[in-house]
Amino acid sequence: MKYDFDEEIDRRGTGALKYDALAERYGNAELFPLWVADMDFAVCPEITAALQKRLSHPVYGYAQTPNSYWLTVMRWLNKHFRLDVKREELNYIPGVVKGISFAINYFTQKGDKVLIQPPVYHPFRMVTEGNGRIVVNNPLVRTTGGYQMDFTALEATVKAERPKLMILCNPHNPGGIKWTAAQLAEVARIARQNSMIVISDEIHADIMLDGEPHVSFLTAGDDAREVGIVFGAPSKTFNIAGLVSSWAVIQNPELRKGFYEWLDVNEFSDPTFISTIAAEAAYSNGEPWLEQMIDYINGNIDATEKYLAENVPSIKMIRPQASFLVWLDCRQLGLSQKELVSLFVDKAGLALNDGEMFGKEGVGYMRLNVGTNRANILKSLEKLKNAVDSL
Ligand SMILES: Cc1ncc(COP(=O)(O)O)c(C=O)c1O
Repeated sequence: MKYDFDEEIDRRGTGALKYDALAERYGNAELFPLWVADMDFAVCPEITAALQKRLSHPVYGYAQTPNSYWLTVMRWLNKHFRLDVKREELNYIPGVVKGISFAINYFTQKGDKVLIQPPVYHPFRMVTEGNGRIVVNNPLVRTTGGYQMDFTALEATVKAERPKLMILCNPHNPGGIKWTAAQLAEVARIARQNSMIVISDEIHADIMLDGEPHVSFLTAGDDAREVGIVFGAPSKTFNIAGLVSSWAVIQNPELRKGFYEWLDVNEFSDPTFISTIAAEAAYSNGEPWLEQMIDYINGNIDATEKYLAENVPSIKMIRPQASFLVWLDCRQLGLSQKELVSLFVDKAGLALNDGEMFGKEGVGYMRLNVGTNRANILKSLEKLKNAVDSL
C-alpha cells in the first residue's frame, strides 16, 4: 500500500499543541507551525482501525494489559535494535519525559547533580531543575558536520562534580546525531567507573535516515548494561504522541528492582488501554508506513538542503542522521537571538523552536520540524528566503 504523505490535513481546532497553542506561545495563531516534535501525517490505518474497534465497545473500564503487548514490544526491540529483552527488564512508562522525571526522583535527592550535554532537548534541564536537582553541563563540541561528545571533558566533569545521573539523547535532538557503539561504550565506561547512572532517551531511534540501524545504549557492552536505563516509545515513530505509550528497559537487576517496584506500587506503570492498543497495532503493522515515512522525510530534508544552499546560503543546515528535526545554523546572519527569532516569527510568519531553549550553545540556531507535507516545507522556505532577503 502507498501512503499519502502529501495530503493536507487541517489540525487546527483538534487541540493540537503544535497548532492550537500558537497564539499563546508565539502571540500569533496564523504562523505556520514547524516547532513541536510531532508530524502532520495521518497515522497508518491499522492504528486507527484497532482503536476504533475497541472504542466501538461502549464500556471503558479498568484494563488489563495483554501479554501480546509486551511480546510485541520485545519483538520490536529485538528486530530493530538487536536488544534481547526479558519481560522483567521491560516496563511501561507514561511518556519519556515522565520516565526521566521518575528516575530523577527515585535515584537522586534534592541538591544532587545531573549531567546533560547541551545543546539538548530542553526538558532534560527543566525536569532536573524543576525537581530541585542541579544541572551539570558537558557541552557537545561543534564539528563541520554536526556535533561530537567531548570525552576528556566528560570524564573530568564527572570526577569533579560527581553527578548521580547523566541524561543522554540517543539519537541526539536537536542535532539529529546518532552515536556509535564505541562512543556509547566510552560514556558507559566513564559512568561505571564513577557510579553514575545513564538514562538513554531513545525516543527518536526508529527514524534512522541513512538505513543503518540505531545503536541502543544497552547494546554497547557490559558497562552500559550495568549503568543503563533506556526509555523509548512508538510515539515519534508512528505519530501517536498524544496517546502516550512509552517503555523502559533496564537490564541490571539491582538498578531495576527498586525503581520498577516504585513505579508499580505508585501505579505509574499502568497504561491506559488506548495506549497499548495503539502501540501494539503500530509495532505489529506499521513497518511499511514507517519505511515510506522515512523516505518522505529524507525527501523533505533533501528539498530543504537544496533550497537553503541555492537561496539562503547564510543559513546552514546540519543534515540529521535521525528523525525529522533539522538544526539550522543561522550564525552567519549576525543577528542577536532576539532578532533571529523575530526574523522567523514576525518577518517570515514561521513558528520554529528558538535554538537557545536547548541551552546557550543553541544561540544562533533555530530548530525546524520537517514532519509536514513537502508543499508546506517549500512554502515555508520561500517565506524564510523573503524574510532574509529583506534584512
Ligand atoms: C529527545 C526527546 N525525548 C522525549 C520527548 C518527549 O517524549 P514524551 O512525549 O514521551 O514525554 C521528545 C519530544 O520531542 C524528544 O525529542
